[in-house]
Amino acid sequence: MAMSQQSIHGQWSSRWTFILAATGAAVGLGNIWKFPYLTGVHGGSAFVLVYIVCVAALGIPLMMAEILIGRRGRYTPVNTMKILAEESGAGPWWQSVGWLGTLAGMLILSYYSVIGGWTLAYVFKSATGAFRGVTGASAHTMFEAFVGNPWAILFWHTVFMIMTMMVVAKGVQGGIEKAVQFLMPALFVLLLLLLGYATTTGFFFDGLAFLFTPDVSRLSGTSMLTAMGQAFFSLSIGMGTIMIYGSYVPKGTSIAGTSIAIAGCDTAVALIAGMAIFPIVFANGMEPGAGPSLIFETLPVAFGHMTGGLIFGFLFFVLLLIAAWTSSISLIEPAVTLCIERYDMTRASASLWCGISTWALGIGTVVSFNVWADRTVFGMTFFDLLDFLTSNLMLPVGGILIASFAGWVMAPETSRSELDIRHPLGYTLWHLLIRYVAPFAVTLVLLHALGLL
Ligand code: TRP
Repeated sequence: MAMSQQSIHGQWSSRWTFILAATGAAVGLGNIWKFPYLTGVHGGSAFVLVYIVCVAALGIPLMMAEILIGRRGRYTPVNTMKILAEESGAGPWWQSVGWLGTLAGMLILSYYSVIGGWTLAYVFKSATGAFRGVTGASAHTMFEAFVGNPWAILFWHTVFMIMTMMVVAKGVQGGIEKAVQFLMPALFVLLLLLLGYATTTGFFFDGLAFLFTPDVSRLSGTSMLTAMGQAFFSLSIGMGTIMIYGSYVPKGTSIAGTSIAIAGCDTAVALIAGMAIFPIVFANGMEPGAGPSLIFETLPVAFGHMTGGLIFGFLFFVLLLIAAWTSSISLIEPAVTLCIERYDMTRASASLWCGISTWALGIGTVVSFNVWADRTVFGMTFFDLLDFLTSNLMLPVGGILIASFAGWVMAPETSRSELDIRHPLGYTLWHLLIRYVAPFAVTLVLLHALGLL
């Protein structure tokens, strides 16, 4: 079957804008909020080491597989998988990989938008000097009071979702590309500024030592598996986000080089965020292993006491907002393109309907922190359940299926010619990783998440 040269949804204007957009999708709350707190909880450097190994050995090959599948198919993940399965003589059920990913993206966005809304609220809190002089206890009270008010967080969730859908409605070149061209460089500048501040705290080297002194004795099975899961979440692989962005990639772009660049940027942002945050935590005598509240409770204390804390606190939350925004855009793109391709909708109305339904689902997360805080299934709130379902079940299954498709179903000649790796051993290495290592390793994550291992 002849493959189309270009997606009906548009094309990136250059390799560079693709790298920016995909990095924008990858860098998000996962890097700046989740990576530091997981690193803190799992004891620092050993976790970081496993994370980096997983990005290199599993993340990059899987990302290459998603870009290669997306660019060859040129449609939304559902139709791309269908077309490529047909091409390889495999059954049409492979399109369920696309459905699974599209659904996972909407489910993740429904709660991601709520957390993005908190970030937005904290931009305003920091700008109005709400953090001035706060203590650990009062920052905790402030956070609890904030999330305890369903109307407040519903309001911010709504604003965040409108921001997301406005960019998505404008399409690839008009919306996503314009947004990231401005937002991604701004993000790097703000992060470096924050890093610069961290060097003046007097605890910069304590932060570095925490992150990078090798201490394998702290490595447990759980932390290894958590680090691997975080590598997948952070790179946005396993659900079609990278596949759909890959479908806008011009022919002739080096997939291997691009994947390495994206993974490198994503990892760099996570590490820089860690290097910026931990010195601030240590300088203020805080607990690195505070958990998910690390940023929303601990950083206001740090910013509330440091010189220039008003401006640095404000910049930090703007930074987090930008990162969350460019990721949220990518989470809904598979659903929006699916509505356009299958139901013949315009991009504007597809964005509207996908946005409204995801927003409505987000109300479940909004009330998980207040009205429904005590309503649990298997000991989990609605929010916990969604997070578990997506991160621990849907992403690993998606990853295993995508790796298996690229490694076993696609003809090696096809993947070899699409990847077009110059180094003679490059393709062999990728094929080995995607055929054997990736499916096996991700299966371990899944079994662990199910408590079977
Ligand atoms: N990677 C993003 C982050 O770190 C979140 C994200 C965007 C994502 N698209 C995804 C996670 C697809 C999993 C799958 O915040």
